[in-house]
Amino acid sequence: MNFPTIDFGWLGNGNLIGMMAVLHVMINHAVAIGGCVLAVSIEYRGRKDNNPALDAYAKQLTKWILIITTTVGAMTGVGIWFTTTVILPEAIGALLRIFHWAWFVEWLVFVTEVVLLLTYYYTWDQWKGEKKQRHFRVGVALCIMSWFTLVIITGILAAQINPGNWVETLSFWDAFLNPTWVPSTIFRTFAAITLGVAVLNIFIRWNLKEMRDRIVVQRIFGKWLVVSVPIMLLSGFWYLRSLPDQAKTLVKWASGMSETAFILLNVGGLFLIFVLALLLMDGKPKMPAVLTIFTAAFSLLLITEFEIVRENIRKPYVIYNYMYANGILKADAERLTKEGVLSNATFTTVKKITASNKLEAGEQLFRMQCISCHSIDGVRRSRAMTERIDGWSKDALMGFIPNMHQVHAVMPPFIGTKEELEALSEYLATIVSKRNGETAQGGK
Ligand code: HEC
Repeated sequence: MNFPTIDFGWLGNGNLIGMMAVLHVMINHAVAIGGCVLAVSIEYRGRKDNNPALDAYAKQLTKWILIITTTVGAMTGVGIWFTTTVILPEAIGALLRIFHWAWFVEWLVFVTEVVLLLTYYYTWDQWKGEKKQRHFRVGVALCIMSWFTLVIITGILAAQINPGNWVETLSFWDAFLNPTWVPSTIFRTFAAITLGVAVLNIFIRWNLKEMRDRIVVQRIFGKWLVVSVPIMLLSGFWYLRSLPDQAKTLVKWASGMSETAFILLNVGGLFLIFVLALLLMDGKPKMPAVLTIFTAAFSLLLITEFEIVRENIRKPYVIYNYMYANGILKADAERLTKEGVLSNATFTTVKKITASNKLEAGEQLFRMQCISCHSIDGVRRSRAMTERIDGWSKDALMGFIPNMHQVHAVMPPFIGTKEELEALSEYLATIVSKRNGETAQGGK
């Protein structure tokens, strides 16, 4: 409403945010957090056993952590700012207002993390002998700082789905210390370690030539997994329990599975990872390849699933009970329905609907209220209008749109006057029949 809208069209605005976020979370969790914890654990063991092969492996891991986090990690991190800021500026604006200082602290922590990472890697060969203890301490500080970035950002993400009393008190601490923050932080922490092990375990035979060394490292991996898997399971359930009631009911829809299938799949998958953990601890020279690959694939899918479910159960809000997913404040809905959204919008080519600008007005309304989830045509068929409303008349749309939030609780209510509803309906019916008509002709 107060910002211009960008329509990434066929790709879908929501999809773009989702892809960027999932990639970033994978890198942050698996590499920056899981990877650091494992590298430092391996360095510790190498020093204890006086084993230069382990020390060299830990250094090699740190090199990769440095490369990946400062390239793809940093680019996707900035990418999240880019996608969310241009696609849903209202939401980012509101989050900045609520969490201004948390974000500032996040930046300080992140810079410290990068400095520690550079120090940890580049002093590896200098800080030896007497100084090795100091080097190890830098590694531990690095782990704490990279975990701290997760702790802060999770407070913000969790507040989006469950701001607790914030909606009434508007107090920063009520928002930050929300009921979903602790379970979500614990879940992500141990998911990060699990992801780190899952990915590294695939490459271990190439990274460590000596069987003896490999078994030592596998045992370290196994110990971390044995602790992480049960904690993930418990904190996962705790997370689900901490959600607002309406969000709980959406888990089934968001995961695309029945409740039983959802529980069986996740518990079953974690159980198999736990089996791998026991085998790793047992010190077997060879790990079953199927289980190794399964663990890597499953843990990557699990974190993706977690992000997708988290995004979807939050609907119809982007900040629960405060701002709808289209950026409109819940508190403004009634007034805007009376006054009209176009006349109140800062960036729109139409302020007042006339017979000649009706379609353009409809398009503007679609951009303001629907494109955070829908596209006219696009990769995600279940959200593409050409798929969902193929053959619907303008009248059918005029009947549906005012009730859409009741038909599908994931959608915010349509906000606008009768004329605006009519303009949106006419635009949608026209563009969809035109696009589908063209496709049909093209196919002939
Ligand atoms: C917060 C995200 C979101 C927003 C915003 C949103 N929708 Fe939806 N909409 C959905 C989802 C998700 C579905 C699919 C629901 C399902 O199939 O389970 C859907 C389905 C639909 C359908 C198909 C209904 C059916 O029963 O077949 C129509 C039509 C529709 N939306 C129109 C709109 C219009 C028009 C707007 C803007 C005024 C809009 N939506 C805004 C998420 C959204």
